[in-house]
Amino acid sequence: MKALIPAAGLGTRFLPATKAVPKEMLPVLDKPAIQYVVEEALVAGSDEVLVITNRAKPAIERHFSPDPELVAQLLAAGKHDYAQAVEAVGKMPVGFVYQSAPLGLGHAVLSASGAVLGSPSDPSGSGSPTPEPFYVLLGDALIPDAQLLPRMKAISEAHRQANVIAVVEVPAEEVGRYGIIGGCPLQATEGVWQVEQLVEKPSPEAAPSRLAIFGRYLFSPRIMELLAETKPGAGGEIQLTDAMVALLAEEEMYALVIDAEEGYDVGTVEGWLETNARLAPRRG
Ligand code: G1P
Repeated sequence: MKALIPAAGLGTRFLPATKAVPKEMLPVLDKPAIQYVVEEALVAGSDEVLVITNRAKPAIERHFSPDPELVAQLLAAGKHDYAQAVEAVGKMPVGFVYQSAPLGLGHAVLSASGAVLGSPSDPSGSGSPTPEPFYVLLGDALIPDAQLLPRMKAISEAHRQANVIAVVEVPAEEVGRYGIIGGCPLQATEGVWQVEQLVEKPSPEAAPSRLAIFGRYLFSPRIMELLAETKPGAGGEIQLTDAMVALLAEEEMYALVIDAEEGYDVGTVEGWLETNARLAPRRG
């Protein structure tokens, strides 16, 4: 299964730190945030990881490229652990797709449409003959234990390849930062809801629940066709959630409710700071 990681945003919340360094390259302990997300996709068995970025962010590509000189230098200095870490990240099977203009998250995902639908214009050159479901992982959310995607896949397979998203309960005053679902919990499977409604960044009064989309999606390829038809929405951007609303009218969607402790939000300065503090003891 392919995994798409949108990483083309401007990182406005972290300016001026993100003036010269992409937000995805800000470190969480000793690794850039995006490396955790790539590792999560690989551990979950993704056969192709595609980072969707723009030409103004060469640092991300450089990070995932081999650097034999640096490895040799570290080995010569007896720094074997560092050499191994540099070598490992340079070998990760990561491809890149470019978003032509900053037109929103939905547009970023659509930029990888060729890779998912297998069109002749496939920028990765490896579109599958039969379009398959695929993952989308947003870089603002870290799930270091990497169990989430396999759990989402199992739910999809148990429901005729349905779409599955991860959600987390947030306080009422925070619903306006997220896509919020409405629906009902399944009787047979604890912690899984059937999604009936999706509202992007609602007011607390308009929110159908307090379950917020937490940056992990398993989509049927149909979302790409719907994204291609999606008009600019909130903020003049092509919103992923708008295409998901259209998808919901045609296909089933389930939400896996995760514990707040399972996820780490690095999308704000406060969340990034807290993530570093929570992960530091796990590093040993
Ligand atoms: C995006 C999605 C939103 C989701 C959030 C998770 O919003 O549009 O539905 O809840 O990511 O982090 P953004 O953070 O890009 O504004």
